[in-house]
Parts: sequence; C-alpha cells; structure tokens
Amino acid sequence: MKAARWIDRFRSRILFVVALLAVYLIISRFSFGSQPPYSFYLELKHAEEDAARKFLESQKNPKFVLLRQNQAGFDNQAQEILLHHHLALQSSRIYIYQPFDWRARKQQLPLSAFLLGPTQHSVPSSLVEELCPRGSDDVVNIKIDSSQTDIWKTALSALNRKEKCIVVDNPILDSKYLSSSAAQIIWTPFQKYLSRYFQWSSQILDIVERTYPFLNLRSHFSSLDGERYMALHLQRSVTLFDRCTTAAKGKTGFTNWAKLPSILSTTLPPYLDTENATSVMDHCYPPLSRIMEAIDYHARRKPYIRAIHIIHDGAASTDIWKLETALKNEERAKRAGWVNGPMKIITHSGLVPYQPDEKDFLAGVDIEMARRAEVFIGNGYSSLTSYIIALRLGGDFVVGGVPEDMSLL
Ligand SMILES: *[C@@H]1O[C@H](CO)[C@@H](O)[C@H](O)[C@H]1NC(C)=O
Repeated sequence: MKAARWIDRFRSRILFVVALLAVYLIISRFSFGSQPPYSFYLELKHAEEDAARKFLESQKNPKFVLLRQNQAGFDNQAQEILLHHHLALQSSRIYIYQPFDWRARKQQLPLSAFLLGPTQHSVPSSLVEELCPRGSDDVVNIKIDSSQTDIWKTALSALNRKEKCIVVDNPILDSKYLSSSAAQIIWTPFQKYLSRYFQWSSQILDIVERTYPFLNLRSHFSSLDGERYMALHLQRSVTLFDRCTTAAKGKTGFTNWAKLPSILSTTLPPYLDTENATSVMDHCYPPLSRIMEAIDYHARRKPYIRAIHIIHDGAASTDIWKLETALKNEERAKRAGWVNGPMKIITHSGLVPYQPDEKDFLAGVDIEMARRAEVFIGNGYSSLTSYIIALRLGGDFVVGGVPEDMSLL
C-alpha cells in the first residue's frame, strides 16, 4: 500500500519535471529560436579581437579613427559602415569598427557576422580602451562641421592630425547627406572601394548559395542550372505610404545613388516631376500597372528571362499574388509581346530556405539576390534600392552593373 503511494508520487513528480522541461523547450524555441545562439556571436567577437591583435603586430605607429555610427536599419547601417571604412582608408587611419546595431532587439552583434570587408585590417571597438584610452594625450575628440558639398574633403583634412587616435563625435555621413546630390561627388571613389572591399559574411553567402537550387534560379554570374531572373523590389508597408505622402508634400526627389544621372535615366516614363504630387506618388508608391510596365519592358528586351524574384517587406502578399496571376497569364503575355510566353517561376523573399537560427541574415540575402539578378527593378525613393544599385555597380563581381539592366519605377 505504502509502496504504491510512493510510486504514484514519484510518477507525478517525473511528470511534473517532464512538463516543465517541455514548457522550457517551447519557450526557448520561441524566444531564441529565430537567431543564432549567443555563443556563436561571442565566438565571432573573440575571433575579431584575435585577428585585430595579430594584424596590429605588423603595424608600425598605427593611427586610428573612430566615427560616430548613427544609422538604423539594415541597409542604411551597412552603407554607413562601408562609407566610414572608405573614409578611414583614405585618411590612412585604421578603422575602428563598431558592432551591428539590432535596434529592435536592443542587441549589438559582431559586424563580421554580416559584412566582412570593413573588419579586415581593422580593429573592433571592443579594443578601443586598450588602444586609445580615454584621457590619454594620444586621443583627441573632434566634431566635423561643413557644408554637404565639402564634407568629405573637410573630414579628410580633419583626420590629417598627428594624434594616434581621433574620435569623431558627430555623425557626418548622415541620411540627409546621403539623400542629397552632394553625395554624388564621392560616388566614383566609393564605387572603386566597393569593388575591392565589399564582402558579405559566410553566413549570408551560405543561405544565398542554397537558395539558388532550391528556387531553381540562376545567378547572373553563374553557369549552373536554373532560370535567369529579374529581381523586383516591392514595398507596400503603411509607413512607406506615409513617407511617400510626406515626399509629395515636401516635393522631394529620389534618394542617394538613384540620383546618379546614369541611374536616373533608367526611370520608367513618365519621369518624376517633384512639383506634381500625383507624379511623386506614382514613383514612390507605384501602382501595379506601373510595375507590370517595367516588367514588360525587360521581358521584351530579354525574352530568355522567364523568372521573377520579388524582394519585399512582408506587407506585399496580396500584391505578390496579383502580380503572379498576371505574370503567369498566357493571354496577357501574348498581348504584352513576350515571345516566349508567360513567366515560369515567380519566387519571393518568403520562400528563401533558412534554418530558424539564420533569421538575422535574411536582409543580406534579399539584397544579394537582387544584386545577382540579371535585371533589377527598384524604387528610387527607397534607400534599400539605392544600396542595391550601388552594389550592382560596384560590388565584388562587377557584373550585372550596367544601368540598362535596371529600371526605377
Ligand atoms: C501630374 O502627374 C500625373 C501622373 O504622372 C499626370 O497624369 C498629370 O498630368 C500631371 N499633372 C500636371 C499638371 O502636370
């Protein structure tokens, strides 16, 4: 009798522990399951520090620069980091790079998990106290003030001081500067910089390599099997709509590299008239008819392209479905003059195959899929489109970068 009760109690305890374990597993899967384990990022951080120490052994009288990193979001931040690295190289100072700021999650992740170029022959900011201790005579804090047109020149002469370490306290290559025409002055050297130093992390590239066979697509640079494809950048979020209304009221034009004359001329007619609010809305938040016109144009130009990959912000599913219906319609393809019939494959960001702990890298995967497409159709008001254009014109493959293979909506 006693023994039976004891077994009962023992069994319920076991059940209780098993239930707790199950709850723990479920919770941990939901809260950590979408990002790499912390230990992975910690390992990368240590590897960054080890590589930097090794690199510094070979440097005589190294000089450093730490620039104030200010941008949020994946593409703006990546572009700011690349420009900072470019500025540091031009000033002959070693770039002190900062972690990637995942603001939504309040996390700072090692830069080498995303972009490799700026972390090579540079040092991470975790070593800054060691290399440039605050208060030391070797360290000077400065502010750089200049008109937008002269900012790069002014920054270079400010960095040409004798101190070992310069810390720039104000953001200089801010979004105002980047969206202005003044940024075009630095385009040609920045393009050269990109062709030499732009490089994704292996985490991002692994997913890209896996995506091609999975979606049966083929990169512009590849001779492997799969369909050649156009990439379309489609945004449909409410915040975008609001930003477009503001742009229409403020009579703002395209942003950043979309303003380069060779890119601006790829705009699908009718051209942007910033004085006309309807025109601004048509370009900034293009109706599907306009998107179809751009696709028609390239499908007639390159009839062997039978696939489209759509990169989107997650709010576009209805429009993706509408586009898919139209693109696969045989009658419409005939009317539009597509000699090889309708599109065979329509894919999009949501179909990229990834493991639950690879979610952090998907923004980079989207950009790379658009960069390696044979044709790219983008939005001149979008900083993401602008960044994709820069990487197509400049990136490490330096193919697919002819303006004729791009269209701005
Ligand atoms: C404004 O732009 C729209 C769309 O491009 C066009 O139909 C309209 O005629 C333009 N209005 C004026 C006054 O130019």
